[in-house]
This record gives sequence, C-alpha cells and structure tokens, in this order.
Amino acid sequence: MNDTEGTTAHHVIPLPRRAGARTDGGAGCLLDEGTGIEAQAGAGFVAQWLRATVGAATGLPLPPHHAGCTSRILLRVTPETGSGLGPEGYRLAIGEGLVTLEGGGEAGLFWGAQTLRQLLGPDAFRRAPLAPDVRAWALPALRVEDAPRFGWRGMMLDVARHFTPKDGVLRWIDLLAAHKLNVLHLHLTDDQGWRIEIARHPELTRTGGWRERTKLGHRASPLWDERPYGGYYTQDDIREIVAYAAQRHISVVPEIDIPGHAQAAIAAYPELGNTDVIDTTSLKVWDTWGVNPNVLAPTDNTLRFYEEVLEEVLELFPSPFVHIGGDECPKDQWKASATAQARIAELGLDGEDGLQSWFIRHFDRWLADRGRRLIGWDEILEGGLAQGATVASWRGYAGGIAAARAGHDVVICPEQQVYLDHRQHAGPDEPVPLGFVRTLEDVYRFDPLPPQLTGREAAHVLGTQANVWTEVLESRERIDYQVFPRLAAFAEVAWSQLPPPQDRDYQEFTRRMTVHYRRLDALGVAYRPPTGPLPWQKRPGLLGRPIEGAPPNV
Ligand code: ACM
Repeated sequence: MNDTEGTTAHHVIPLPRRAGARTDGGAGCLLDEGTGIEAQAGAGFVAQWLRATVGAATGLPLPPHHAGCTSRILLRVTPETGSGLGPEGYRLAIGEGLVTLEGGGEAGLFWGAQTLRQLLGPDAFRRAPLAPDVRAWALPALRVEDAPRFGWRGMMLDVARHFTPKDGVLRWIDLLAAHKLNVLHLHLTDDQGWRIEIARHPELTRTGGWRERTKLGHRASPLWDERPYGGYYTQDDIREIVAYAAQRHISVVPEIDIPGHAQAAIAAYPELGNTDVIDTTSLKVWDTWGVNPNVLAPTDNTLRFYEEVLEEVLELFPSPFVHIGGDECPKDQWKASATAQARIAELGLDGEDGLQSWFIRHFDRWLADRGRRLIGWDEILEGGLAQGATVASWRGYAGGIAAARAGHDVVICPEQQVYLDHRQHAGPDEPVPLGFVRTLEDVYRFDPLPPQLTGREAAHVLGTQANVWTEVLESRERIDYQVFPRLAAFAEVAWSQLPPPQDRDYQEFTRRMTVHYRRLDALGVAYRPPTGPLPWQKRPGLLGRPIEGAPPNV
C-alpha cells in the first residue's frame, strides 16, 4: 500500500490508518444493476444498511448475490482481521468485479461500510438518485486497512435545554455513524426540563417536561420567548433510539444529573429539594440559563427516588456506563439546611463536598451492584472519588489527569477545546457568540491524550467526546451550525492516528473537507460554511441575530 497518497486521495474522513492503490494495477469496481451483495455470517445488518442507503442513493437494487450477478460486494466478519486491527477494524479491497469488506467484528464491518459509501462520492449520501438514468457507480481500485485510535468516540447532545425530538435523535445517530463515532451521550435532565418518561414518577415529565417560557440567547439578554416549551421521550421512543443506535454500533449513554441541575425534578416533586431552606413548592421548571442554587436534598427519600428512576433507566439503556452528572452543584442550600448538616454530622462527612461525594459514592455502588459503571463530570473528584467511577474531564485536562493517575478511567472532553456550542469564529456575525472561540483548525489540533500521562496512566483514557449544550441552540439548524464542520475534525482526532497537534497537516484536511462539505450538503446538514454569507445573514430574524451586549465569554 502507498500510505502517503492512498490515505488522502479519496477524501475519506476520518483518515484511514492505511490505504493505497492496488499493487497489481487492476481496475476499480463498477456497481450497477448486476451487482449483488454476498453477506456471510454476521454481515446481515451491513448488507441491509448498504441496500437501504447506498441502494436508495444510487437506485441500484443490490440484491443478495446470485449466479446471474456480474459483480459482487462480499461482506464478512473475520477473526484474522480482528487479531490485527481489533473488532472495530476493517479491511477493504476493491478490484474489478469484486469488493471485499472484512470486519474484525460486526462493528468494524459497519465502519468499513461507511468508508465504502464515502468512496462512491457525495451523491451516495442522498435519499434518491439525482439522475435515474445513471446506472453505474465507480469505486476506485483501492485497499484500505483501518482501525480506531480510541474506543470511546462520543458526542453529548443536551436535549434538556432544547429538546431534540426522537426523529432528530435518529438523524444524529446516522450522522455520528457517518463519522465513525460510537457514543451518543444524551443529557436527559436539567433545571430546564426532564426529558425521559419514568412510569413510577409521572410528574417528572408531566410537570418537569415543560417550562412556561424560555430565555432567548445568552442569559444576560433581555429577550424571552413567552411560549410554553417542552417535550420528552416516551419509553418506547427510548427503546427505538437505543435499538437503532445498537444496530449502528453506537452506545447511548443516558445522563440523569444529580445532585445539582435538578430544578425540573424538584418542580415536579418538591420534597426532593431542600424544604427546610426554601419553599420548594413555589419552584417551577427553570426558564433561564446558568448554575442553579436549587439542588437535591441529601435525604434517604431522594436516594430512593433516584434509585427508582435509575431502575427504569437501566431497563431501557444497556450501556455499561450510566452518567449521573455531578457537575455545578452549589452548596449554599446544604450549608443553610439543618437536615443536610445533620446528615454530614451523622455520617462524619467532610462538609458539603463530602455530601456531594456521598451522593456519588451511593450511586457508584448501586450501579456497580447491577453490573454497570458510573461516569460523571469531573466535579465528582471533589470530596474523594467513588471507587469505580469514570471521569468526564470537562474543565480542562486536570480532572482527567488526576483521575487517570489515581487509576480511574477517563473521557477527555475539555470545554476549552470541544464544547461545540462555543463560537467557531471571532467575527461579529456568529449567532449568540458564546464561550471560547474554537475554529475548525483548533478542533483539528485538539489532542485527547495529555502528554503528562505515562503509558499505564494513558491507558485509562477511554477516549474523547465533543459536548453540545443547547441553551442558545433552539433549533436543528442552530445545532447543525455549531456542530458542523467541527464534528468532522473531532471525528478524525478521535479515530485516526494523527501526528502531534503542531505537526498535523490542516491544509490537507481542508482539501478533503471540500468533498466532505458536499457529503454534508447531500445529508441536509446546515453546517457553518467555510466561506460566503452565514445562513442568518441570508435569513435575518430575531433568533438569528447575535444578542446585543452578550459577554464574549460565559
Ligand atoms: C458542564 O459543562 N457543566 C459539564
């Protein structure tokens, strides 16, 4: 294989480990009416997926291979491929009349199918052929050998601040799959909304799923949308989402945020709050953004309530990891609460931080007893980390480094690099210019592995995740705009074996991106265009304008 040319020549994103022209100089493969798919054991879903996506885009039937076929796509799962490349690895060989795709496991086969679709050109990402009379689609003569750098390649979608209905989540699963990302972390609960049906506690969605109005833009803005806002996933919606993701080798990690970010739950069940400090019956689902003082009371009742919630969550989500939040929990109410102080004294805890840690330890043990693993934001380090906990390092790398050194697993997702709600340009036209300016190039030069970690410590870095908070992202278009094109750079960082950040060839990446933008166009993704007017400049309106006077960093 010719590593230098082959890997980049066909604009594949994320960049494969190795690719090159076939050494025998043979021709590529033409897919046409005579092409059949031979799916060996374990390849059934990928055959079905190719027929449903590539078949729809090309108008080719791609039937099961039979004696009358003139060319063949051979799909198989082979342990030999896995032994070199792992279960997510794949080998692809394209020659005249035969495409052979081998996965180390079913996941590898599926990732290989993503590469195959990219090699057919941007129109292979459409839902129907543009020119029905074009009946032959060329694949280049090529060999590819590929496997991911990290096992956790995630995106978190905040569905609490603004709700992404089920069909939108299924679309995100397809978009993640197209980028070989394999974790969808759903931020299901927050102060501003509870988004998952819990049969035992129906007020969580009946009351907690709706807010009376919504702050428009940054929290300092004077503007409101006065319409009630809400929505939630039924348990059947969740089952469908999880099953759809599983077919695509994507794990859906649920987040139920405790003990902070819980005002929607307290609005639904006031006894969950610190009733000896404030009148929790007067609390409503929060209508603005920021860190909220109304946190859960550290009582046995609260623990039982959340155990009951999590029992239903575990039934719905097979993910080994369950995210329990743990971030941004102000301790003021616990300082003022006689009940909280009595609990600190009774358990001999180290003040309010000890109380936070007590919550986390309780659910760490509770989840471990049920064969699951707790993951939480890096505040779960405060007051001592629960034994089996995994840390999502968001306030920079420090939490991740400390946790990995202490032998804990870590997912690296620093807000300084991969919070995709943050603006991607310093210019005045960015809609609701939030947070750090992080360009496409900045994300491309992000490295999830802190250089300070030794080999043994670095092995605790499970991978990396881009986080998408939706306070100021009120529509699908706004989310698309923030996430793309940066998610393509993120995917390459998470999947590919890139050189150290300063040595990465960003120009070469942008060259491949010229084709990737056309794939995103075909998929209907409203990405931030690299040049030319931004979407809101063409379509001015209240939601599109930057909010006057919003601070540059929040
Ligand atoms: C976070 O951004 N509060 C995890």
